[in-house]
Order: sequence, then structure tokens, then C-alpha cells
Amino acid sequence: MPDVDEMKEGKKYYTDVPQQTEGFFLKGSNALDWGMKNRLARIFNPKTGRTVMLAVDHGYFQGPTTGLERIDINILPLVPYADTLMLTRGILRSIVPPSVSQSIVLRVSGGTSILKELSNEEIAVDIEDSIRLNVCAMAVQVFIGGEYERQSIINMTKMVDFGTRYGIPTLAVTAVGKDMAKDARYFRLATRICAELGAHYIKTYYVEDGFETVTASCPVPIVMAGGKKLPELDALTMAHRAVQEGASGVDMGRNIFQSDSPVAMIQAVKAVVHDNETPEKAFDLYNILKNK
Ligand code: R5P
Repeated sequence: MPDVDEMKEGKKYYTDVPQQTEGFFLKGSNALDWGMKNRLARIFNPKTGRTVMLAVDHGYFQGPTTGLERIDINILPLVPYADTLMLTRGILRSIVPPSVSQSIVLRVSGGTSILKELSNEEIAVDIEDSIRLNVCAMAVQVFIGGEYERQSIINMTKMVDFGTRYGIPTLAVTAVGKDMAKDARYFRLATRICAELGAHYIKTYYVEDGFETVTASCPVPIVMAGGKKLPELDALTMAHRAVQEGASGVDMGRNIFQSDSPVAMIQAVKAVVHDNETPEKAFDLYNILKNK
């Protein structure tokens, strides 16, 4: 029984104060449903509109990659500095404690190894498992121009359909085949196709020439892929340029976990992404933290 006092007619209607209708902070995402937005707001920091995703999903096609041999020892100490972890369900269940507060982006495409044609992927995780694991997005590799281009695109559109049913965003990961030019023209094509077909955000590589045209022509957020290990200052410079040229953050793996000091490197990347720090200052920070 409610207290009789609570049944009294309320007076606090603030009839002179219009109800605020907030726009959503993320590019191209305002028309999404509440659950999608809530999940995206756990990946992208609403204060900066950007994310530092730590990618450790490499094992799904190449086994124990250098730096990922022992995820419990090498990667768990980095987790507190990331906004999001991108990984497979195998590693999530076997190694990551469920008490982790960072959002999870689950790799859901797979089925190939480095010994075979990589573009021949299928959807490798049931949507129910993504729901069960409470993930904030599902990542699908898309091979534009690759041998199994169509199949990989359809994998992505299927996940967009499944995810839309349950409020889980899809991250399209643009993969570049060995013989393909890694230039702005290619990435404009690849990212735009993914966005047009429903991806909620897209991971793509940085290119020195024309990256701002890639971010400008993509109607949803882009996160920069790290790629092969570079010297730390070069990796920080690349991340800095990417966010200054329109990327909504980074999804980096090897350039963090293969660094001489991964814990220092992820904090330097974070300074570039969330604090707009210059690469030089972030590199100073890296050295200070490395030598502590
Ligand atoms: C492949 O394309 C995957 O997404 C990777 O396993 C991973 O996310 C790549 O990260 P990085 O290139 O920064 O090491």
C-alpha cells in the first residue's frame, strides 16, 4: 500500500520548463533505438565522442600472435585504460573476468585461417550468444574487392538485421587483400558500402593522403585500425592525424600490445584520442610511464 501522503496531488509540473530533447552525440546515429544508442555510448565516450578500442581478436585466424601468447598476463593489465575490448568469445569466456566494466565488441565472423583464403568467412557466432555475453557491438570482416566479397558483405548485412532486432550495433571491419591498393579511393569505396548497407560504425586503415575524404564521405563513425607494428612515435602520429581528420577514435592491437611498454603505450594513445594531445607530448608521456 502506498503511503497516503504520496497520493496527494503533485504540484511540481514545471509547466514553464520545456522537456529537454537531447540529440545523440554520435555521427549518423540519432535515428537509432535506445538500446543501440546506449551500447554505442558505452563504446564511444560521450564526453569526447571518441573511443580507444583495444583489439586482441587476432587469434581467430592467426593463432597465438606475438604479444597475445598469454592474454591473461599480457593483456588484462591494459584493460583499465581501454574504453572497449575487441575480442573473440573464446577469449572472453576463458580469460576476461565478468566483473570487467569496459564494453565488449565481439568478433562474430570467422572460419578461415592464415593457411587459406581469408575472405572465405562466415558468421561464426549466433546472435543469441552475443546477447548472452552482453556485448556492445558485433564485429564482422568485410572484404571489398576480395575473392569472397559478396559473402562477406552478406555476413555483415545479416548481422545488421539480427542486431537491429535486439539493439546490438554492428562494426564493419574493412579488410584489405594482398593485391589491393591501400588508398583513400579504396577506403572511401569500402567504408561507404558498409555504411550504406547498415553498419553502425566502421574500422578502417589510415592513409596519409586524403583520409579526411574517407571520414567525410562515410555517414557513420570511423575508427582507425592500427595495422602492423610501427615505432611508437609513428603510431601516435598516425592516431593523432586520424582523429584530427575525422576519425571517432582508434581500434588498435599490435601497435599497443607489441610495444616495448604496452601499458605506457595505451595511455599515450588515450591522451591523443581523448585529450587531443600532440604526438610529441604523447610520446613524452609514453617515455615517462615506460621508465617508471
Ligand atoms: C583483422 O583485421 C582484425 O580485426 C584484427 O585481428 C585486429 O583487430 C587488427 O588490429 P591491429 O591491426 O591494430 O593489430
